[in-house]
Amino acid sequence: MSNARLTLDPSFVVGPINRRLFGSFIEHMGRAVYTGIYEPGHPTADADGFRQDVIELVKELGVTGIRYPGGNFVSGFEWRDSVGPRDDRPRRLSLAWRATETNEVGLHEFASWVEKVGGELMYAVNLGTADTMDALDVVEYANIARGSTLAEERIANGRTEPFGISMWYLGNEMDGPWQLGHSPAEDYAKKASQTAKALRQLDPRVELVASGSSHPTMPTFPLWDRVVLEHTYDDVDYISCHGYYQEKNGDLGSFLASPVKMDRYLDVVIATADHVKALKRSDKTLNISFDEWNVWYLGENLRSFPRQADRFYRTDEIEGDDWPEAPRLAEDVYSVADAVVVGGLLISLLRHADRVTSAAMSMLVNVIAPITTEPGGPAWRQATFFPFAVTSRLAVGVSLDIRIESAQYETDELGSVPLVDAGATFDDSTGRAAVFLVNRSLTEPVTVSVNLGALGDLSVLETQMMADADVYATNTKDAPGRVGLQPNGSASIEDGILTVTLPPVSWTAVALG
Ligand code: AHR
Repeated sequence: MSNARLTLDPSFVVGPINRRLFGSFIEHMGRAVYTGIYEPGHPTADADGFRQDVIELVKELGVTGIRYPGGNFVSGFEWRDSVGPRDDRPRRLSLAWRATETNEVGLHEFASWVEKVGGELMYAVNLGTADTMDALDVVEYANIARGSTLAEERIANGRTEPFGISMWYLGNEMDGPWQLGHSPAEDYAKKASQTAKALRQLDPRVELVASGSSHPTMPTFPLWDRVVLEHTYDDVDYISCHGYYQEKNGDLGSFLASPVKMDRYLDVVIATADHVKALKRSDKTLNISFDEWNVWYLGENLRSFPRQADRFYRTDEIEGDDWPEAPRLAEDVYSVADAVVVGGLLISLLRHADRVTSAAMSMLVNVIAPITTEPGGPAWRQATFFPFAVTSRLAVGVSLDIRIESAQYETDELGSVPLVDAGATFDDSTGRAAVFLVNRSLTEPVTVSVNLGALGDLSVLETQMMADADVYATNTKDAPGRVGLQPNGSASIEDGILTVTLPPVSWTAVALG
């Protein structure tokens, strides 16, 4: 058995943890909306057609901000289609997902759902097929109290008070050749800058996110981000990052190190933003909105995961004139190993809490999601639900700057990486702390010693662990409770040292107070 060591000291702080770090994302894609959050006729549906079983799970997950309505979808979306009397709303073809969008759920309905789950609505404007004027119109419709034609239209449509949306995304993944309206960095940057200035003139309270690279493997990364920021630095509050991770070719060791990839990605984005800050001699420091992150089994790799293949079809495999409504798309089934990676990705976000002040696990229901539903049937928690829910609940206050001493192991993708990953938080107002630990060893347990001396006299309040003899075990409709949280009974404190043993391929959270 190997050992690892770390020290928690409240004077060494990364930064305050913004609650927006625990955001998520609902796109009009697959069954995220229809038969996901919304299913009139479902036994649990409320008067507005929203599934209350899903609402309860979303609350339990502890999600804060929710980005909407896309994603790739938004780059071909006309927001006006989604407001006004439902019977008059057009049926449109969603080019991004080769599906029919009925517009039954639009801005008003989604905002009311977000209120039901106690979240913050965050909205993406279309900068693909639409322009600055269109973005101005939706902000006016949503945020201006009264007196203008669009504000009055909102009121006539049943919403007297403005939606008061703070966070606005200036397009989505505009660096991606798959994106409707994809353009060279400079073209997007000029459009984003003009749009940002216009939106601020209309509503100075808005917070704006420029569209950064859609993945660190993009050939244009990080040049895209630099060019975009050279044009938009003074106009926006955030640059976005997106990152998806998956096990490839049976290489679990590399997959478990995905948070190292996220760290390296974030370090480059931060360096790029700070480079532009220096070029501009600016006093302003730009934050990062990591507004799509998760484990996602994509492309050819999908075929090697039989558990995924039968729950997914690729849009390029839809034949003929078929534009289905709410097709089963990207309904990944997550394992304990995936959950351990998700727990680690959350640690990476905490490690960058000074700069990543908003993030969204992508997505929330059915599509690459921690919650799955069956039409007319149950809703259940996927394995990835658990580390998110626990981290959102326990990671309060500030993220602590910790140095971990751990053995390393070799990975094909990332070289030598630490066997143990750790994050820690401290809440000065309650004196409570939390430690999040991952053992990436495929075979060996690790005992971790955490020096708590500087935090005073603490006891273990709670432990939560994800581990399983079968690291590929999942929850399914027929076995929705197969995997879940269990206590880590090894945690104990003696002389200010917390000792906890982590089984192979596991994630543990320890709450202290
Ligand atoms: O989250 C699903 C898709 O992944 C989004 O539409 C897009 O932004 C990303 O590529």
